[in-house]
Amino acid sequence: MTARKLLLDCDPGLDDALAILLAHGDPGLELVAVTAVGGNVSLETTTRNALDLREYLGFPQVPVAAGAAGPLVREARNAAEVHGIGGLGDVVLPRASLPLDPRGAVELIVETIAASPGQVHLLATGPLTNIALALRAEPRIAQWAASFTIMGGSFTRGNTTPAAEFNIYADPEAAAEVFAAGWQVTMVGLDLTLQALVDDRIKERMLALGSLGRNFVVPLSTFWNDPQDPDWGGQAVHDVCAVAFLSRPDLFRSVPAQVEVETEGKFTAGMTVTDFRSSAPNALVPVKLDVRAFWDYVLGIYGSVSDAQN
Ligand code: RIB
Ligand code: CA
Repeated sequence: MTARKLLLDCDPGLDDALAILLAHGDPGLELVAVTAVGGNVSLETTTRNALDLREYLGFPQVPVAAGAAGPLVREARNAAEVHGIGGLGDVVLPRASLPLDPRGAVELIVETIAASPGQVHLLATGPLTNIALALRAEPRIAQWAASFTIMGGSFTRGNTTPAAEFNIYADPEAAAEVFAAGWQVTMVGLDLTLQALVDDRIKERMLALGSLGRNFVVPLSTFWNDPQDPDWGGQAVHDVCAVAFLSRPDLFRSVPAQVEVETEGKFTAGMTVTDFRSSAPNALVPVKLDVRAFWDYVLGIYGSVSDAQN
């Protein structure tokens, strides 16, 4: 089967880095471009991390471009308390030597998708500012993209506010434009991703992945521990779930829904208001994960990358 071409817009970021590893290692996916957006940490840092990850993981031929430093209209916010000021927790990668693509993220997104209509799967694991700006530049990417998937939102609760998940809360106006663009948005939200926790058993399996496991996967997967959560069951690999959906939708039970993004609410800005009864769905919402099969898939791909390094 031909590999699915994937353009990944991200804000690396602990789980973004793990998602990039999966996208790179899965033979069913072909990473064709990576674009960075300000989100978990500053654009300068997410961009540097994307460049460093490209060389550390070994996909030097893939263009990397920088996008928006902050949201369309609101003040920028970050999640450095979760990801560390450097964005990758305690992981320090060798500094990249290869340069950024001279095009910005918007130009790279539009050109890549326009060059191969119906072939490139667009996937975002950070705030949706770059995607909204690309749609403004060329609305037809909503028709030309083979699919569009996000890690973001939720239909029950937030993680940044009681109502909003970080990627949507960081730029609600961008998210609202993206959900209204006329394409189907696959919304891999917190209700799904909080099923993919790195518990002690999974951590042990990661440690068995050689130096890649010990020096990269485990540190990224265990850096954050929520002191306010008495039921803490481990870090969720949010962004990994979005990439996994693209390659292995069979691991998910998904339901159509109409999703509208709240941009006015004093307490609810960034909420993804999800109507599973709508007769005009604009989204597909994965709600249930086959957790055992998910980890077998993800750790199998990570193991193949680790084996190839040794
Ligand atoms: O809410 C989780 C999302 O916010 C993930 O994409 C994580 O990387 C952060 O960006
Ligand atoms: Ca992210």
